[in-house]
Amino acid sequence: MPEPRLLSSAGFTNQEKMGEITNVMEYQAIAKQKLPKMVYDYYASGAEDEWTLNENREAFSKILFRPRILIDVSKIDMTTTVLGFKISMPIMIAPTAMQKMATPEGEYATARAASAAGTIMTLSSWATSSVEEVASTGPGIRFFQLYVYKDRNVVEQLVRRAERAGFKAIALTVDTPRLGRREADIKNRFVLPPYLTLKNFEGLDLGKMDKSNDSGLASYVAGQIDRTLSWKDVKWLQSITSMPILVKGVITAEDARLAVHSGAAGIIVSNHGARQLDYVPATISALEEVVTAAQGRIPVYLDGGVRRGTDVFKALALGAAGVFIGRPVVFALAAEGEAGVRNVLRMLREEFELTMALGGCTSLADITRSHIFTEGDRLGRPLPRL
Ligand code: FNR
Repeated sequence: MPEPRLLSSAGFTNQEKMGEITNVMEYQAIAKQKLPKMVYDYYASGAEDEWTLNENREAFSKILFRPRILIDVSKIDMTTTVLGFKISMPIMIAPTAMQKMATPEGEYATARAASAAGTIMTLSSWATSSVEEVASTGPGIRFFQLYVYKDRNVVEQLVRRAERAGFKAIALTVDTPRLGRREADIKNRFVLPPYLTLKNFEGLDLGKMDKSNDSGLASYVAGQIDRTLSWKDVKWLQSITSMPILVKGVITAEDARLAVHSGAAGIIVSNHGARQLDYVPATISALEEVVTAAQGRIPVYLDGGVRRGTDVFKALALGAAGVFIGRPVVFALAAEGEAGVRNVLRMLREEFELTMALGGCTSLADITRSHIFTEGDRLGRPLPRL
């Protein structure tokens, strides 16, 4: 018996309208159709020439596999622990701001989908749902992404609220003393729609974004975000919270060493989805130097351009302890709400599992540097452990 089909008002199933979704990238075109231009452009765009935006994907495509064969791959274990928390797979959700622009459920939908998949959601400081609201969606391991405001009382209050609401770690974003130049947002005069607020700041009178002759977000950042932020503030943050701190936005060995010395619990190699400084390398290209500099003393994670299970495998082979995804979540939210995010996490999980099987790995510990080769390797750097 065929399954009963849920028909939308136009007489088509959602799947017929959208065609079968077979990979996470397909949600982008659907989101583009469904969203107002200002919102789609905000989610999709990168800084200036978008060289890094393109490179975040391109660099993955230049890493090739050295799969191992005749290994029993009938059982595959993708579980891992992040800062001591056990999750179902090394694929987590990066903080992306203002998710209610994509769908009315916004961050709630993301929180529920992450929890159903047994993985971690990172909530943005600039979410359109508060830390308390997201906590009320039910159990789940959640991290809180922090932007440091000039007014440190605001920061202290927010960090305490996140901790009280059960958030388990802070992802301190360190690549945004000013907002990158996102030309689409400038042209569109991007501003948070008036029916929404940056919920975490509502009671502090910082929840609204004024229209400006520029990107409204760029003006908001210029007014509120603390450009003086430096390594000593990592110590300050440690003095006001017992949550572990992940430094999000490291892309050099020098800063990886400083992060270790600052007492950070981990590093997220990130170029902010190519939305800040253009012409920085793809994160997957910067990963290995950061991993080497961290010397195994703290875990290193990666975000930026992860769209396939093969990308997850490549990042782990280069030493990442896990990855985060950004845009796929907002595009899937726009297309299908919570079901879309669930589907994104399911597809990436299945692709990653298949990559492990075809690569000859049955647990994350089996994934080694020898399972891949990079352009650098091909250009004469000796292959590791041949
Ligand atoms: C972001 N990112 C981000 N980072 C952060 O620390 N705080 C934030 O509020 C946001 N907001 C945000 C909005 C949107 C629409 C995007 C696309 C990105 C960056 C994000 O956490 C992550 O670093 C990148 O999105 C990862 O790259 P991909 O997966 O989008 O390629």
